[in-house]
Amino acid sequence: MNVLVTGCYGQLGRALQHIAENDSWHHWFFTDVDTLDICHKDSVENCFETNKIDICINCAAYTAVDKAEDEPELAMLINAFAPKILADTCLKYNALLIHVSTDYVFGGDANKPYPVDAMVNPQSVYGNTKAEGERLIRESGCNHMIVRTAWLYSSTGKNFVKTMLMLGDTKDEINVVADQKGCPTWAHDLAVALVALLNKNGKSPVHETFHFTNEGQITWYEFANAIMDIGGKTCKVNPITTDQYPTKAKRPAYSVLDLGKIKEFAGIEIPFWRDSLVKCIEEINKNIG
Ligand SMILES: NC(=O)c1ccc[n+]([C@@H]2O[C@H](COP(=O)([O-])OP(=O)(O)OC[C@H]3O[C@@H](n4cnc5c(N)ncnc54)[C@H](OP(=O)(O)O)[C@@H]3O)[C@@H](O)[C@H]2O)c1
Repeated sequence: MNVLVTGCYGQLGRALQHIAENDSWHHWFFTDVDTLDICHKDSVENCFETNKIDICINCAAYTAVDKAEDEPELAMLINAFAPKILADTCLKYNALLIHVSTDYVFGGDANKPYPVDAMVNPQSVYGNTKAEGERLIRESGCNHMIVRTAWLYSSTGKNFVKTMLMLGDTKDEINVVADQKGCPTWAHDLAVALVALLNKNGKSPVHETFHFTNEGQITWYEFANAIMDIGGKTCKVNPITTDQYPTKAKRPAYSVLDLGKIKEFAGIEIPFWRDSLVKCIEEINKNIG
């Protein structure tokens, strides 16, 4: 199977590259905007044609949640219209599209984990563009798996874990919101799950949506405390409310995703968030050392 990965310099793309190093079952093609801009239909079609792509894992996205409020057209182009190009191309070449989406498609006002078929109700430009991307992929009729994730972090790129570790080195005290609950996701664990999904399904017809995060649920405040604890930082974390930390884009108050479907379909066990956080911080420390 020939597997195309788009957006390969991002957190998830790099995690997939790491896994592919020890995978001889598939022939991997890693691309980012410098080698394959997913907004360009001709380039995408040419890539599928030349490399006989069987599966495309779309890790490319516009992920700057607050900036998206000022750049809605660009966010829509990358998060919705470009995935439609990928979907149409997958349909044309009978390939499977594995597309990554987000908890931000939901309203954030639930009090129990969102099942995959819960109604979407995005509260931000970013969430709206990702929901539209999902809709266009489903509408295309291509074989697809849409995998929603949340609070992604890794040892590469910019993310909450690395920011907290840096603040832990430079501040005595920080304030972190304690009234937004979700679940973090180590990009490595998500990458493992995506490979399990593609191995499970191959090129069989599929039109499914899944949720994948690590197990458990916590607030950003609890997450920050765990990062300081595991990272060996003495910085004090104070709980604050969302009102005390205004952001341009509205954040969901509750965005825990129900993981039942992916566990059953792919036959995977999902690591608990704290166990994965320990592994990621070990990796970060190894990279520094
Ligand atoms: N990060 C999170 O907390 C989070 C949470 C929930 C869901 N997700 C979803 O998870 C997926 C992976 O996220 P991530 O954190 O790995 O993203 P990321 O680190 O921002 O990586 C996205 C990559 O896509 C590239 N890209 C942007 N426009 C492109 C284009 N037109 N053609 C090809 N590549 C392009 C980006 O390049 P530039 O950097 O040059 O723009 C970047 O290398 C995304 O679908 C995201 O929406 C992320």
